[in-house]
Amino acid sequence: MAKSKHILLIIGGGIAAYKAAELIRLIRKSGMTVRCVLTESGAQFVTPMTLAALSENEVHTTLWSLKDEAEMGHIQLSREADLIVICPATANLLAKMVGGIADDLATTLLLATDSPVLAVPAMNVRMWQHAATQRNIAQLRKDGIKVMHPDEGAMACGEFGPGRLPEPEAILSEIVRQLGGEPGSAGLAGENELGANPLDGQPAFAPDQHRPLHGKHVLVTAGPTHEPIDPVRYIANRSSGRQGFAIAAAAAEAGARVTLVAGPVHLPTPAGVLRVDVETALEMERAVQNALPAEVAIMVAAVADWRTDSQAGQKIKKEGAAPAPLQLTENPDILAGLARHEQRPGLLIGFAAETEKIADHAKAKLEKKSCDWIVANDVSGPVGESVMGGADNSVHIVTGTGTEIWERLPKAEVARRLVAKIIEELANV
Ligand code: C5P
Repeated sequence: MAKSKHILLIIGGGIAAYKAAELIRLIRKSGMTVRCVLTESGAQFVTPMTLAALSENEVHTTLWSLKDEAEMGHIQLSREADLIVICPATANLLAKMVGGIADDLATTLLLATDSPVLAVPAMNVRMWQHAATQRNIAQLRKDGIKVMHPDEGAMACGEFGPGRLPEPEAILSEIVRQLGGEPGSAGLAGENELGANPLDGQPAFAPDQHRPLHGKHVLVTAGPTHEPIDPVRYIANRSSGRQGFAIAAAAAEAGARVTLVAGPVHLPTPAGVLRVDVETALEMERAVQNALPAEVAIMVAAVADWRTDSQAGQKIKKEGAAPAPLQLTENPDILAGLARHEQRPGLLIGFAAETEKIADHAKAKLEKKSCDWIVANDVSGPVGESVMGGADNSVHIVTGTGTEIWERLPKAEVARRLVAKIIEELANV
């Protein structure tokens, strides 16, 4: 496992500074460490105490701290980071960076560093649109600084337009992308002990298609369910969860707020995704309903059709000649339940694992479960070569208007294409 990544977070002076606190929480949750530098004006909006408590690291505020210089000089501070993130990056900070001004700790670090820098601007719409700011941003990009696009919407100052800080989940996704998503960072890219990461480190969308699912809540289920027989045994299936995790990652990359209800799998949580772990079908049903409302739901989980009638309190003993009988009862159909729910997601997508007559069975399932699309995959084939648990998938997408066939593709690519199709569908509503 590679060493965990380290972020140096510079917090500038703007009302969006309060969102840096949430960003620190997300960075830490994804396994990275973070050290904060707070500018003088940033300290008007958040306190060093908040940042120190969340980052569990000392917060640096001034160039002129003898103690800090003795322990870690500002040059070292600027170089030990795998990535420097400026959030929020104010118009003033951006302008100083362009001019190479170094008149406080933050700007001195930025001039001294050889680490990559990601700036996350947030400011009033007119300040953002001002020719000076736009000129500065163009120059910073030429200088190799990655500058995120701000979001559009109502602003704290009462105006409306571009200039809002992107949601912390989206900033975290960008951080992971900038770091190349190595294992030990946010677990997004590279191989882990269970196989490839959900998106293979590739961004799901071209930068010009900026976060097309922003403002949408996407609910995804993934993995198998385990239905206990006794305290040590359970009924399960071979689902690995990889396809569902890749879809959750692709939706988050596209800017959605994503809730991933995951059965028992050993996969890292994709960046920017809220994961709810469950074990049984009944727990999954509850978690799915608690996550509503959502604009889109994609039910990828291989939910066990049956559970044991009752669970033995003690391990069932191998006594006598006859094996202990298992009384089974049917699990609720979570997908069909969502289709009937008063908060039914506008776009409801089911998956279907089939071993024959894939398109016919998928069409029948679309009607039976009253969902909008069925993504059917062929899970025939010997264990180990099958789609279930494998890296690739071949799917039929059955909608009310027709069927598309996507021949064998990596699961990450199926995820990207499916999310692109969802974006197209939402744009047409
Ligand atoms: O009926 P079948 O299991 O083939 O349907 C597959 C689809 O239905 C998947 O989207 C799966 O997540 C969903 N499903 C469910 N609850 C069940 C069984 C399946 O949500 N109990």
